[in-house]
Amino acid sequence: MKIKTMIKKVINFAGYGICENYHHCYDQEGLLTVHNHDFMQEPRFAESYRRAEIAGEEQPSIHWRTHVAIWTAQQALRVEGDFVECGVCKGFLSTAIMHYLDWNKLGRRCFLFDTFRGIEESLLSDEEKKMGRMAFSGRRYGECFETTKKNFSGYKDVQLVRGPVPDTLATVEISRVAYLHLDMNCAAPEIATMRHFWPKISPGGFVLLDDYAFRGFEPQKRAFDSLASELGFSILSMPTGQGLIVHP
Ligand SMILES: C[S@@+](CC[C@H](N)C(=O)[O-])C[C@H]1O[C@@H](n2cnc3c(N)ncnc32)[C@H](O)[C@@H]1O
Repeated sequence: MKIKTMIKKVINFAGYGICENYHHCYDQEGLLTVHNHDFMQEPRFAESYRRAEIAGEEQPSIHWRTHVAIWTAQQALRVEGDFVECGVCKGFLSTAIMHYLDWNKLGRRCFLFDTFRGIEESLLSDEEKKMGRMAFSGRRYGECFETTKKNFSGYKDVQLVRGPVPDTLATVEISRVAYLHLDMNCAAPEIATMRHFWPKISPGGFVLLDDYAFRGFEPQKRAFDSLASELGFSILSMPTGQGLIVHP
């Protein structure tokens, strides 16, 4: 065995890895790859990402997730319906999408659902509570309604719906959905939202799950896998941690 292979095996055995050509790698939030990621340099993407960073304030770098969300939203413009996000916080991803798509020229409606003050504890399972979801939410997602309002003030036809999902879903009239983004970091309200909107999603419309394949968010994956069997859809699991569903 070559010495290089031996060293690699020892390092792997210890639970680590070696990445060749690291200077060319994309390395963010558990996704390390040498594959092409030149979307990051595309001027329209770079500017949208910069706007999102301003809106999201102390947000860790999530370029590839943003790329996926923008791509999905852009494809969703081919079908009829509103854009909906549940789990908005200060609006990092939605502002990136709106800037990229030149939202005010589209004539679409967007509904943004959030408590704007963190996870609703009563909706967490015991398992999610044990996983420390409430403490995580406390550290990351405090009161942000006024900031979020300001972040979307330049965009037309955007409605912020404040309060715990799923209770707030029926407070607005949404009959057709083109794009649904679920990012509430807990299973029960996301599953309830999916049940609520699934019959309203246009054929060819999209549901993007932010946490589906994320390590540490397994209860959401299990819940969505089970709902997928029940409702008959399939989920593309992505190395970004996201899951993507296209409505048949
Ligand atoms: C990960 S953050 C969302 C990040 C956002 N998508 C972005 O692009 O910045 C999760 C958000 O879900 C919200 N949330 C969690 N559970 C909720 C619930 N049951 N109803 C409404 N909002 C909820 C939290 O308040 C928090 O703002």
